[in-house]
Amino acid sequence: MFSSLLAPSLLAGDHANLASSARTVAALGLSWLHVDIMDGHFVPNLTFGPETLAALRRAKIELFFDTHLMLSEPARYIESFAKAGANLISIHIEPAYDHAATLARIRELGCQNGIVLNPGTPAGAIEHLLPLVDLVLVMTVQPGFGGQPFRRDVLPKIAQIAAWRRERGLKFRLEVDGGVDLATGPECRAAGADTFVAGNAFFKATDQAAFAATFARL
Ligand code: DX5
Ligand code: ZN
Repeated sequence: MFSSLLAPSLLAGDHANLASSARTVAALGLSWLHVDIMDGHFVPNLTFGPETLAALRRAKIELFFDTHLMLSEPARYIESFAKAGANLISIHIEPAYDHAATLARIRELGCQNGIVLNPGTPAGAIEHLLPLVDLVLVMTVQPGFGGQPFRRDVLPKIAQIAAWRRERGLKFRLEVDGGVDLATGPECRAAGADTFVAGNAFFKATDQAAFAATFARL
């Protein structure tokens, strides 16, 4: 079984002091930081850009940047994010562009790659890409905003992708994002997920160390 990994989402951190929020994550011994990039087009919101990642690197943040691109034209920006310090770059299946070529290019740039699907997108839409990726990100909310309720109807899709991974001997991580907390995280784990993005549930937790410890034991 893939070990469980918690990736706190910087979107729910302090936007006036992002380095401090990242240090909170690192101080707990966590290694991943989920960074949400929105273009106001693919999703109705705006967040960070490549310069945000570069500035965090200059501030000596050494976390693994799990960079989730919610962009209509991700291929135009992957090089900038790779240069800025991304470790993994995930791209959505929904917009029309050359997904396989973009995934290959992400690896050429020295990053891990990931493919993302929205709650309404069936697992079959990404099945052909599974041998080409380091991570599959299953959205458990409609992307665009933190703090939305978890979509339980997505659980069978997580189980389907986990079954394909097992049957085919594939090694990609299976990540969930949106409304993941102490109640819904274990449900995702039971369905086969191993990598857990948590924004509000992590940053607003009264005891972040206990929250992280719970996910480490999942
Ligand atoms: C939503 C983003 C998420 C967001 C999750 O579009 O992709 O990563 O930060 O936030 P919570 O955990 O608060 O739902
Ligand atoms: Zn995200």
